[in-house]
Amino acid sequence: MKKLYVAMVGLPGRGKSTLARRIRDGLNSEGISAKIFNNGDVRRQLLGDASTEPDFYNPDNSFGREARELICRRNLENARDWLAYGGEVAILDATNASAERRRYLEENLTDHPLLFIECVNEDPLLLNACIRRKADLPEYANYTKNEALASFMKRIGYYETIYEPLSSEKYWMCVDTTANRVLAEQPCEVSPYYAAIREIVVSMWINNLYLARHGQTEFNVQGRIGGDPPLTAKGRAQAQALGRHMANIPLEWVFTSTRMRSHETAAPVLESHPRAHSMALREFDEIWAGDCENMLYSEIREKMPEVSAGRNANKYSYMYPNGESYAILQERVRRGLRRALFLSGDTPLLILGHQAINRVLISLFLRQRTEDVPYIHIPQNQYFHIQLTPTRKLFERVPYEPGGVQDTALRDPKVYS
Ligand code: F6P
Repeated sequence: MKKLYVAMVGLPGRGKSTLARRIRDGLNSEGISAKIFNNGDVRRQLLGDASTEPDFYNPDNSFGREARELICRRNLENARDWLAYGGEVAILDATNASAERRRYLEENLTDHPLLFIECVNEDPLLLNACIRRKADLPEYANYTKNEALASFMKRIGYYETIYEPLSSEKYWMCVDTTANRVLAEQPCEVSPYYAAIREIVVSMWINNLYLARHGQTEFNVQGRIGGDPPLTAKGRAQAQALGRHMANIPLEWVFTSTRMRSHETAAPVLESHPRAHSMALREFDEIWAGDCENMLYSEIREKMPEVSAGRNANKYSYMYPNGESYAILQERVRRGLRRALFLSGDTPLLILGHQAINRVLISLFLRQRTEDVPYIHIPQNQYFHIQLTPTRKLFERVPYEPGGVQDTALRDPKVYS
């Protein structure tokens, strides 16, 4: 039987553990037995709090260095035993930051091929958010938020002094984990699992994504576009209903736009999920109507007939004067989605967007003709629920207000085939 070691590589906050879990789950779903061996778990079991202090990671601290080598050896032996007793793919989840450490792995894991997967994340916003989130880890329970942050930053600083990107290793893949993209690779043709792993790495993986539009605003009632209007009483009731409905869903992340209507709609959801993280991303701001911002549709027809005519002729590609088109919006919405998915890892997330934003988001999951995208109906009393993993493909529209209608056509899982 062919077996494989996979060793993750990368500094903290680069998405190694999330990718390791996806590789494990993706392979398991194909009937291949895969297991993660995480150095951090062994460290916490063996050393507990002693290994939380940043100086434990100082390369000049011989106690820390020897302890980390011991942990690496222990994990390596566990992985080797597991493969010997029937396992197929053993995933070593650790920073494996130095070339010296990776040479050690190559010299000691000779019974089966060894594939290194380096995780890269060069998005400062994501790095910052990941690092801030680490301060919530149980190992920092006795620290204030600022102490935890400072301690973790120092730990990363030590890792940075020894970090060397992959280069001379035999088999490797370098992955931009923020975009599910292989940046470079030295394929492991001798392993039948390489192709399967590559496929998992480049696939979008969504356990539970919820998309909702903000509640009704004054502008919606008037037929006015853009701007930053507040919710109406009806909009606030819709937001409350969404909050009540979502209370039963274990959300971990809520992403909003930077607009008031998005924040006001998110507020009741966040009240029912006090532990959830929230973040406002500009990528989810409504389509920018440029010179037409804050205007009534009727005013635009009257005063700028060329705009209405341009939109009627090709709404997807038409760009508002000094504003955006749906085609342009697509790029930033994609970037926002990538950021939201990276930060939430495999945990459930809600994106609280706008009409055009949700149209574009939906078009990234449901195959649509581009000319139809600007006409997708986006209600203010229903949300979309999406799952996209090797074992589950779901797209459903769920009413959250009495009277909302379930759209069975959109529940058809065949949409992905
Ligand atoms: O009308 C609400 C709104 O969100 C506007 O702010 C935005 O310009 C518009 O929807 C987008 O929809 P459409 O492209 O159909 O005008």
